[in-house]
Amino acid sequence: MTGTADMASSRTRAAATSPEASPKQPFALIVEDDREAAQALAELIREEGFRTGIAGSLAEARQQIVLRTPDVVLLDLMLPDGSGMELFGGREELGNVEIVLMTGHATLETSIQALRLGAADYLLKPVSPRQVKAMLHRVGRPAEARAEIAGLRHTADLEGRFGHLRGRATVMQLVYTQIGRVAGTAVTVFVVGESGAGKELVAQTVHDLSRRRKAPFLAVNCGAISPQLIESEMFGHEKGSFTGASRQHRGFFERANGGTLFLDEVTEMPPELQVKLLRVLETGTFMRVGSDELQETDVRIIAATNRDPAQAVATGRLREDLFYRLNVFQIRVPPLRDRLDDVELIAQHFLDALNAREGVTRKLSPSAIEKLEHYSWPGNVRELRNVVQRACIMADGESITASCIPFDVPVRAERSITVTVGTTIEEVERQLILATLDAVKGHKEKAAELLGISPKTLYNRLREYGSEGSEIAAE
Ligand SMILES: Nc1ncnc2c1ncn2[C@@H]1O[C@H](COP(=O)(O)OP(=O)(O)OP(=O)(O)O)[C@@H](O)[C@H]1O
Ligand SMILES: [Mg+2]
Repeated sequence: MTGTADMASSRTRAAATSPEASPKQPFALIVEDDREAAQALAELIREEGFRTGIAGSLAEARQQIVLRTPDVVLLDLMLPDGSGMELFGGREELGNVEIVLMTGHATLETSIQALRLGAADYLLKPVSPRQVKAMLHRVGRPAEARAEIAGLRHTADLEGRFGHLRGRATVMQLVYTQIGRVAGTAVTVFVVGESGAGKELVAQTVHDLSRRRKAPFLAVNCGAISPQLIESEMFGHEKGSFTGASRQHRGFFERANGGTLFLDEVTEMPPELQVKLLRVLETGTFMRVGSDELQETDVRIIAATNRDPAQAVATGRLREDLFYRLNVFQIRVPPLRDRLDDVELIAQHFLDALNAREGVTRKLSPSAIEKLEHYSWPGNVRELRNVVQRACIMADGESITASCIPFDVPVRAERSITVTVGTTIEEVERQLILATLDAVKGHKEKAAELLGISPKTLYNRLREYGSEGSEIAAE
């Protein structure tokens, strides 16, 4: 599906591009009926090396999109022939186009709806030039990045490796696809999964594959900083702003500028600070503690939690408006027990590193592997890493046998999914489908038969889960 879309866009691009324009120059379409505002914006965007087009209505926007697929669409919501939201109806044709809303009518509901429908971001009117520039800097994914990601997807299929992540289970292939889709965009990512499942590594991989890779990736554990200090840790403070503030301090937002800020355990952030974080995400500005001077910021946020985010919202731990702002693109990292076929591969990866460090060639015996594959891994990949380390210490000589594995495996961990009250039927269905597919090693006909659904239904579901889900699941 993606392949066809790309081909189509390069064809129309060739036809619509004037000879002097570089084919690599990204194209931004501004959909705005206020002609003057649109032209001012176009000028700004051209300064950033984009080609621009202006559409004054929905109808014009549709025509222009057919002529030339834009890399980014800046979309006003109130248009003479309808709401900008209607453009999302044609999301299929839009493929990987980034849609950024410009809204003076920033009712929370519209923004939330737009983000749900797939808008990359929204800018509050009046749109500031710096905000537009920062936004453009993040979108407009260069062709090289796409090629790099395609290359990585290839090694993921062949070798079960995607950046620093290891694993070839269907559920991990989905994660790789999602990382590939989102890395080059400006979108805020919410990584959800159990402790030790690999959330931080996923976040780091998104950063490494983004244009921000040369700037810092800063990880902040929101649950580990005292509520009294967290605001100044985040936003910095001026000298003398509180007792003990003996000099000016740069916060995480300043230090991560141009890069990525990983907000781990974001549900543990005090509610007042959640309001402030939301403001920063909406305006791209913040103030140091003890200062009333606005600082501009260009930071991509990746948040993570090992709680169920919907439940955190329901219990009031996580503000609903912040949740929607963070949850623009959610990546679920599956627990290790849902990808037991990857255990050997990941264990081998940890063992290789230890062997290299000590200059030895220890090997996992078949009985040891068997034991590892029959455990339920409550501590996920982190626990596996620790177990491999301990097994190395226990081993006599170069063979690591089952007796070196420091736990008893009472019963075979059945492949199962855990459902808590409050989970939607849709989500349960998703988990069940992915777990079943994994159990039959990605064989779709078999999975459909076990699930009692037609292969076509299965195919459609997989397409919904990840834009290329159907391709990954293919044998
Ligand atoms: N797929 C993977 N391949 C290789 N190593 C992995 C993988 N997933 C996780 N790891 C490693 O396992 C350890 C735990 O991962 P990580 O810190 O990302 O988990 P987490 O989900 O952030 O955990 P927590 O919720 O406790 O913070 C790290 O050492 C990480 O490098
Ligand atoms: Mg972590």
